[in-house]
Amino acid sequence: MYGLLRNILFRLPPEQAHNFTLSSLDVAQKLGILNAFTRTPAPCPVNVMGLEFPNPVGLAAGLDKNADHIDSLGALGFGFIEVGTVTPLAQAGNPAPRMFRLPEHQAIINRMGFNNEGLDHLIANVRNRRYRGVLGINVGKNKDTPNEQSEQDYRKGIAAVYSYADYITVNVSSPNTPGLRDLQFGDSLKQLLNAIKEEQLACRQAHGRYVPVAVKIAPDMDEQGIRFVAGALLEAGLDGVIATNTTISREAVKGHRHEQEAGGLSGAPVREASLKVIQCLNAELGEKMPIIGVGGITDGESAAEKIRAGAKLVQLYTGFIYRGPALINEAVEAIRKEVR
Ligand SMILES: Cc1cc2nc3c(=O)[nH]c(=O)nc-3n(C[C@H](O)[C@H](O)[C@H](O)COP(=O)(O)O)c2cc1C
Repeated sequence: MYGLLRNILFRLPPEQAHNFTLSSLDVAQKLGILNAFTRTPAPCPVNVMGLEFPNPVGLAAGLDKNADHIDSLGALGFGFIEVGTVTPLAQAGNPAPRMFRLPEHQAIINRMGFNNEGLDHLIANVRNRRYRGVLGINVGKNKDTPNEQSEQDYRKGIAAVYSYADYITVNVSSPNTPGLRDLQFGDSLKQLLNAIKEEQLACRQAHGRYVPVAVKIAPDMDEQGIRFVAGALLEAGLDGVIATNTTISREAVKGHRHEQEAGGLSGAPVREASLKVIQCLNAELGEKMPIIGVGGITDGESAAEKIRAGAKLVQLYTGFIYRGPALINEAVEAIRKEVR
């Protein structure tokens, strides 16, 4: 069914197909017919970061940047939904075209550049949602905010979404905001993590509720860099790590007509790199901090291997575009076999 629909959707430019699909999902949900096309996975509960997830397969950030479609996406069977990346102020992102399909590789290259409507818009949507499942909110910094002041944008994001999120993700790994990924290294990282922790604790005091904060990292780091991140996360007392974002490497898609497009590559070509990051993180973190695995999940096995490598939860994006909602159930079932 989705294969047929995909053939039609893939005739449209990627961003148009994206918007059309999400609007159609909303209509189907409002008409009450969405359930006819989806199958809610049998429960496969897991407790991570102190939260109860009905199953370990979530929607990754970036598909619903403004939380405009939480209710329809939330009806597809995901164990959790992550919305954003949201920046304090609305921003347009990069000029189109900024999303490219590489179907031969089950991949996407995107340089969206955090196009979003800002915190107020996202929060209004989150407040009005009917979805009652686990909700993560992913926060970032505005393009015009210099790196030295990025701390302020992250603090604003955390403070604004704190009372609406089940968990918060701090995104320091998008390749499409110049300089953002520099925040993953050395003193910049330590300083930022301390500021994030301070903001989280201030919010806990103000709201009387502890909301876990995870940090999302890139796959383009050597082992030494990954070990440093793991140590810094533990030292600052963060609650989780999401590995990984898209890659800037083009090794796996050499010769493709879109190879030279700037941006982050996702889908099957990032699977191996993400897995290596998870394995390295797991060696450092063990049971001390949960890992959420994302990158190149296109079938049950690629989901299960992330759990074997030490992830407690996984997320889908590109595989979901190529495979549709059937991938959710397939991933849940593969993980169920793994953890049995
Ligand atoms: C079009 C597109 C937009 C994305 N936007 C975001 C974003 O705003 N924030 C974020 O943390 N990750 C973003 N991502 C990264 C995904 O959440 C995910 O980490 C990455 O694509 C690897 O997973 P995948 O191979 O399953 O797609 C985006 C990915 C794509 C393809």
